[in-house]
Amino acid sequence: MTKHKILLIIGGGIAAYKALELIRRAQDRGYEVTVIMTKAAEQFVTPLSVSTLAKGKLYANLFDPHEEMDVGHIRLSRQADIVVIAPATADLMAKMAHGLADDLATATLLANDRPVLIAPGMNPKMWDHPAAKRNRAQLAEDGVHFVGPTSGEMAEANEAGTGRMAEPAAILDAVDGLLRPSQHGLLSGKHVLITAGPTHEPIDPVRYIANRSSGKQGYAIAAAAHAAGAEVTLVTGPVHLNAPEGVEVVAVETARQMKQAVVDALPADIAIMCAAVADWRTASAADQKQKKDGSGTPPVLELTENPDILHHVAREADPRPALVIGFAAETDHLIEHATAKRLRKGCDWLVANDVSQEGVMGGDTNSVHLIRDQGIDAWPKADKQAVANRLVSEIIQHFQ
Ligand code: C5P
Repeated sequence: MTKHKILLIIGGGIAAYKALELIRRAQDRGYEVTVIMTKAAEQFVTPLSVSTLAKGKLYANLFDPHEEMDVGHIRLSRQADIVVIAPATADLMAKMAHGLADDLATATLLANDRPVLIAPGMNPKMWDHPAAKRNRAQLAEDGVHFVGPTSGEMAEANEAGTGRMAEPAAILDAVDGLLRPSQHGLLSGKHVLITAGPTHEPIDPVRYIANRSSGKQGYAIAAAAHAAGAEVTLVTGPVHLNAPEGVEVVAVETARQMKQAVVDALPADIAIMCAAVADWRTASAADQKQKKDGSGTPPVLELTENPDILHHVAREADPRPALVIGFAAETDHLIEHATAKRLRKGCDWLVANDVSQEGVMGGDTNSVHLIRDQGIDAWPKADKQAVANRLVSEIIQHFQ
């Protein structure tokens, strides 16, 4: 089997020392690592240590005739399966967002057509700066994948907040997740049933009750499960996303329709209930558009509870899927609420996401805990496709 190749770009931040560990651990996992160091990175780790660990595959200078002849900045990334930037400094991210190319790292990134995973590492104030926010929004739009940063103590005394680079193991988990071909075929023969998106509960023919769910996480899981060879049914509420290739999509609007579509799609080996199903619907939707009657008194909306689809699949479906996974979006007491929810719903695993965090609800990144019988794992913040791929990896391991 040929080894997957990582092109690692080390930026100039204090977390650069962790890049040494990253190289070693990547090699342990069977990756071949080639490295580019920025000039600033050389202030934090020595090229000699990096070159020794990377077995001489270290490049630094865009204008070195030997290096350009040897590989060239275009070929450097083309020879890789993925480009990983760790630490991705505020400066590097700004240059990427604007397409600057004034050194080997940035020129290689501009000439690159491979997936890019960045592990930002910077001072929390920098991470929170509006310019840094603009840049990362641009990078996310350009399809760059993120892992971390995490929060906690920083190198600078008395500085805390979000900005710590993700640990090498977490970065490599994200790489494993993105290089999906390794999972190809491992779910073949399995039927995976997924719900995604919000539901719309009509008030009258033009108004409805809904929520901010974008459907992105469920769609990403559907794509990852399909890539792993599963037969995938995606029951989706109204969203603005393209159907993932090769997936059977059943579009519904209301919770009751979603439940019926799920029941019709059973049996399944694995059920992943990501949808943000409306808890309540109007007791009776009006046939005609509700009008103001001039009295100044607003109409009273009587609500009634919707069926709980996850509860049904986990506790009543016969045959029950071998693995039932629920999601919980919480804004406070994440672990406590999500742990209780897992037991109440009867699902095997529960993926808890903290929707109070910036960029989670409707956005491209997610910060989750996976709650199972064997314990709780906190995953670093990453984009929704990386979270999806990792979840699919866990499912594969569960069935092995
Ligand atoms: O109770 P809560 O809505 O927080 O539970 C979230 C989990 O339950 C998600 O997996 C969601 O898809 C599922 N759910 C469902 N049917 C409902 C409500 C929630 O399947 N009516």
